[in-house]
Amino acid sequence: MTKFKRIGVLTSGGDAPGMNDAVRAVVRAAIANGVEVMGIYRGYSGLIDGDIHQLDVHSVCNVINRGGTILYSDRCPAFMTEEGRLEAVETCRRFGIDGIIAIGGDGTFRGATALTALGVPCIGLPGTIDNDITSTDSTIGYDTAMNTVVELVDKLRDTCESHARCNVVEVMGRGACDIALNTGIATGATAIVISEIPFSEEELFEKMKRSRKLGKRNFIIIVSEAMGKEYGPALTKRIEAATGIETRFARLAHIVRGGNPTLADRVMATEMGVFAVDELLRGNSNLVICSRRGKVVATEIRYALALDDLYKGFKTREDLQAEFSEWEIERMEIEVEARHIYVKNLYNIAETVNI
Ligand code: F6P
Repeated sequence: MTKFKRIGVLTSGGDAPGMNDAVRAVVRAAIANGVEVMGIYRGYSGLIDGDIHQLDVHSVCNVINRGGTILYSDRCPAFMTEEGRLEAVETCRRFGIDGIIAIGGDGTFRGATALTALGVPCIGLPGTIDNDITSTDSTIGYDTAMNTVVELVDKLRDTCESHARCNVVEVMGRGACDIALNTGIATGATAIVISEIPFSEEELFEKMKRSRKLGKRNFIIIVSEAMGKEYGPALTKRIEAATGIETRFARLAHIVRGGNPTLADRVMATEMGVFAVDELLRGNSNLVICSRRGKVVATEIRYALALDDLYKGFKTREDLQAEFSEWEIERMEIEVEARHIYVKNLYNIAETVNI
């Protein structure tokens, strides 16, 4: 029988469509198992301040289709300190919270690991539009954000076609190229500029001039946020100067973080929420719930964070040797390589098809 009487659920970091579906699933699955659920508001800030209220099955009615997060979110510097974390543990004790399900990105998982080490077992769910958690094929909110980008770029295409213009469009994703790459394919972008793959502006200018001669009126260029704030506006000017094609710049920014979650996000968030509750109540913790090849699975947070560090180049295999076995590091290297190949393949597909 489970030792859990009451668990907490929080959302932290950038909000993402589908977070509410995950919260709903956690609440309903826990209550179905006879466990009470406390909603922790404003992420780890609310855990420190005690901004906590009980949720029942009805508290999560009519949230299945809502973007944002009903629990609100915050980036909490105080939680980075030992003092802040100890206050959070004290709050858990005060509210009788035996374990926590934390929905967010890698910062959220670092917090969850720290809390687990201090005696409050935690499980993480990947909630971010960026899809920058390497251990999962998809994060909650990613599919919705991509669909929103496609919808908006389709509108830009209409006006570009009418005026025979080019539109450079910067999309979010922090350091990750996933949104840019996939939406670039889905919108038929003439070019996709991401930090992972070298890009020749000269080749783009020549391509655009050739296509214009053949009668192409509209051009869409998708630029990843990872290229830096100045890059998109500067590229816009360079395109116009080099090709003579009138060019506009659009930064979609936070608009793609809002809106109703898609079916894919709703279903995945629900599956992950129920899975997380099962794991926690079975006595497991320090896990991040992932989706791999269509299956929901659990991965140790320590492994998931190290895999991210290796993929993003923040750490080398040597840095990981003190904490991980040779077998684990080799497994990470295979996963990193597979992701690089996936990115390259998608990029090549775009290059072949998007003329
Ligand atoms: O992580 C989600 C995200 O929207 C990123 O794509 C972006 O870089 C960042 O958050 C923006 O952060 P903020 O909401 O603090 O402006």
